[in-house]
Amino acid sequence: MTQTRTRRRPRSAPPSRRTAPARRASATPASDDRFFRHLVTSLRNGVLAITRDGRVAAINAPAYRILGLEPTESDVGRTAADLLASEPELARIIARATDGGHLPNRAELRLKGPGRVIGYTLSDVRDADGTSIGTAIFFKDLTRVEQLEERERLRDRLATLGEMAAAIAHEVKNPLASIEVMAGVLKRKLPGSTDAQATLSDIINECKLANAIVVEVLEYVRPLRLELERVSLGDVLRDAVTLATNTTPPGGTRVQLDAPDDLPQIPGDATQLRQLFINLINNAFEAFEAVNGSGTVTLRARFAEAHDIGEPAHIVVDVQDDGPGMSEEATERIFSPFFTTKPQGTGLGLAIVRKVVDAHDGHITHLTPEGGGTCFRISLPTAN
Ligand SMILES: Nc1ncnc2c1ncn2[C@@H]1O[C@H](COP(=O)(O)OP(=O)(O)OP(=O)(O)O)[C@@H](O)[C@H]1O
Ligand SMILES: [Mg+2]
Repeated sequence: MTQTRTRRRPRSAPPSRRTAPARRASATPASDDRFFRHLVTSLRNGVLAITRDGRVAAINAPAYRILGLEPTESDVGRTAADLLASEPELARIIARATDGGHLPNRAELRLKGPGRVIGYTLSDVRDADGTSIGTAIFFKDLTRVEQLEERERLRDRLATLGEMAAAIAHEVKNPLASIEVMAGVLKRKLPGSTDAQATLSDIINECKLANAIVVEVLEYVRPLRLELERVSLGDVLRDAVTLATNTTPPGGTRVQLDAPDDLPQIPGDATQLRQLFINLINNAFEAFEAVNGSGTVTLRARFAEAHDIGEPAHIVVDVQDDGPGMSEEATERIFSPFFTTKPQGTGLGLAIVRKVVDAHDGHITHLTPEGGGTCFRISLPTAN
């Protein structure tokens, strides 16, 4: 990395007369076309330039990366519609700019393929006579900005929800406790009636269940205060696997952990992170139960370098199972508090997972693996 930087610097750094090597004199002059080509390829934002007849004139590496396209030798000269076949909306926006002169400024678009959100601006490319010779689109990956905004919205919602839930819990908890106590008293007063004993036991159990839900809701809505320390995610994952397999009889289930020893430590709250992975493993176990009771959960961790400004290096953990997967409708709602498809579920497991990930400035996505099943991808930054 350092090497790349030292090599690039001479282009922009003021030349030092005393030490500049002789070949510096042959550096690309600013008036040279090559300079402008290098300028486009060196920009950190995505750039795609299209000629009047709709063909690609230039495309840089960030554009390929953001659009999720593989560069090929023949891209320049291809029609934009062909290059952007997987992103028809973007192709349409560019065509409208080229044909109709519609040039949106600072607009946003969700890409179909990689699911990223881009912020883009279109410009008309004109020659010296002012004749339009093409169109250029400049764009930036806004996914992280969007995530931060969404996190902010979620925090606001949770704050409101928290106040409401705390008030309701306060009102509900006491009568609930009274019902449980009175049912117990009644049970002792009616020792001879088996029917009454069974009904009262049911009442007591239901009260306990309702109380557990109230406690869980309160736990969820309470602001999360992280006890930050340098955490080894490998250790966290190992502990989570041990705890989850201790409390849930695995039966025909298998858990595989694949975490390299040299993963860098991250700033995190080990207890909360452990809970996060236990929730995910438990969900996989419960998904197996819904079918034939067997399956494999694989936790795979890897280090990922930063490649965008504002996006730090992070550790990516995939928690993947080969269970039944979930419906499209469920996929959209899984992170919403209280969404559950299980008779005994509260629907807070994934909401808590998300809250913990957010508190660590991380990110979680749900993926559907090719062979079926479910995969949650969590990325956690390696630095604050
Ligand atoms: N690995 C998975 N495979 C299939 N479906 C899943 C998986 N993980 C989550 N789900 C679906 O997402 C829903 C929400 O999960 P979440 O953990 O939030 O709540 P829950 O497991 O239903 O209840 P709780 O975790 O509060 O006991 C589940 O009810 C289930 O339908
Ligand atoms: Mg759950």
